[in-house]
Amino acid sequence: MGDFTKVIGVPKPVYCIVAVAQNGVIGQGGRLPWHIPEDLEWFMDQTEGGVMIEGPRCYQELGKALEGRGTVVVSRQATMNYPGAERANDLEDAVRIAQGMPWTGPIWITGGERIYAEGLPLCEKLYITRIHRNFEGDRKFPSDWAQHFKRLAWSKDGSFEGLNYTFEIWER
Ligand SMILES: NC(=O)c1ccc[n+]([C@@H]2O[C@H](COP(=O)([O-])OP(=O)(O)OC[C@H]3O[C@@H](n4cnc5c(N)ncnc54)[C@H](OP(=O)(O)O)[C@@H]3O)[C@@H](O)[C@H]2O)c1
Repeated sequence: MGDFTKVIGVPKPVYCIVAVAQNGVIGQGGRLPWHIPEDLEWFMDQTEGGVMIEGPRCYQELGKALEGRGTVVVSRQATMNYPGAERANDLEDAVRIAQGMPWTGPIWITGGERIYAEGLPLCEKLYITRIHRNFEGDRKFPSDWAQHFKRLAWSKDGSFEGLNYTFEIWER
């Protein structure tokens, strides 16, 4: 029996991964407003082997394309170069490019603000780290997200330097 996945190709599912403060904040001044090592580890583990779709500021914050996964940067600036990543003109283009990349894991919408807002309607699952505190910030996650998803799984509360958080997986 042949390997059908190689012959016909199976489309990758599109998922979203994000860490969100109680008041919806996801970023401040081009950075995450918190430092939670376990959340970074969770992000790295989940997205490994898949393809990340991100904006150019997110790429800059990470400083490079992460190893062990594909990266597509969504930007209309055709002259910009993102080493280790592909560039797409818009989200639709990004998903098409990600589908064609040789990574077999899911396509991950990984921010920032507009990429989440446009990408969330495409997502079957949402991997959300809920941070149980309000933060000052200039970037937010869409406030109506919970209307479109059901909670499938969640972790016990984690804590780092007094900041509590929960890992949750929601499904459309
Ligand atoms: N908490 C979390 O889980 C999380 C995750 C990710 C990011 N963040 C935070 O979010 C902030 C960075 O995100 P950001 O929103 O400022 O920037 P970003 O999404 O990285 O980049 C914004 C740029 O993306 C391009 N873009 C976005 N949507 C597009 C579209 N549909 N078509 C074409 N281009 C598009 C535009 O660039 P051009 O002008 O070049 O076209 C836009 O100026 C940081 O503070 C970061 O820490 C938080």
